[in-house]
Amino acid sequence: MSYGNGKRVGLTVLLSIITIIAVIAVVTGVWYKVKGFDEINHSFSSEIVSSSNADDLNKLGKDYVFTQVSNSQINAGDLILVNNYYEYKGDSSDIAVIYESKNEFYSVSSYEDSAKPILIENLNLMLKDFVTATNKNDINIISAFRTRELQQQLYDEGDAEYVARPGHSEHETGYAVDFGLYDGQYSSQFDGVGEYEWISKNCYKFGFILRYPLDMESVTQIKYEPWHYRYVGRPHAYYIWENGICLEQYIELMRMYPFNGEHLLITDYNAEMYEIYYVSKDMESEFTQVPVPKDKSYTISGDNIGGFIVTVKV
Ligand code: DAL
Ligand code: ZN
Repeated sequence: MSYGNGKRVGLTVLLSIITIIAVIAVVTGVWYKVKGFDEINHSFSSEIVSSSNADDLNKLGKDYVFTQVSNSQINAGDLILVNNYYEYKGDSSDIAVIYESKNEFYSVSSYEDSAKPILIENLNLMLKDFVTATNKNDINIISAFRTRELQQQLYDEGDAEYVARPGHSEHETGYAVDFGLYDGQYSSQFDGVGEYEWISKNCYKFGFILRYPLDMESVTQIKYEPWHYRYVGRPHAYYIWENGICLEQYIELMRMYPFNGEHLLITDYNAEMYEIYYVSKDMESEFTQVPVPKDKSYTISGDNIGGFIVTVKV
């Protein structure tokens, strides 16, 4: 009997202990959930976990990891904004001679004309489609990459409404190209009208924008240049074209989409989807921890101002 009572007391104690453990487990689970600790724990299984930004850690979740980018990369990439206010401080590495990889659908004014390989690749595609659509084959590249010295020379000789200050020209980046016309005998200015309008209407499909539009002179501080095209990449060119804005306005808009906030989702004309967000540079380090998706392809470009723009192919 006493043995039986002892057994009951033992059982009661055991049940009480189990109940207490269960209550602690539930309470702890709820607490972790509320504080988002389980999300943080996912991030700790990622490669890089140091961040000065706790919000970034919260949002990192299981789909993103940090990658470390040198702050010097802020002036590299196809979304850098170079204008009267923002000087180009990048280098001229990775510039290729257009003549060596161009196709037969346009000509170059000089063997020296050079640009970023990604620009040349998309220029080839765009001008092939242009010739197919219009049967015009007289597009001539009259200017692409310029050294600062060349920009200085053009500036000294030219009209400041059309020529950017040395150090402030997109041509120094390798992401800009100027069109002219050359029929084998005569050269003329590219005015972008008539059949040539095809280019301003279709350039976004190839990642280009008309950089200095007619009605944007107060923002770009450069007069309308129908001949100057800038490569920015497809989703960005599409958004800029679709919304009738210029690069200055687009780069400003990017700051509205920080990683720890809402991301910009773009579905382009081809139903391709992209997710875009902005990461400010870490002012306390030489490096910035940039969250990037674990399993999707992405690119990172500096904005040449204060941060990085991540473009994810969804
Ligand atoms: N023509 C443009 C503004 C340049 O000089 O870069
Ligand atoms: Zn130009």
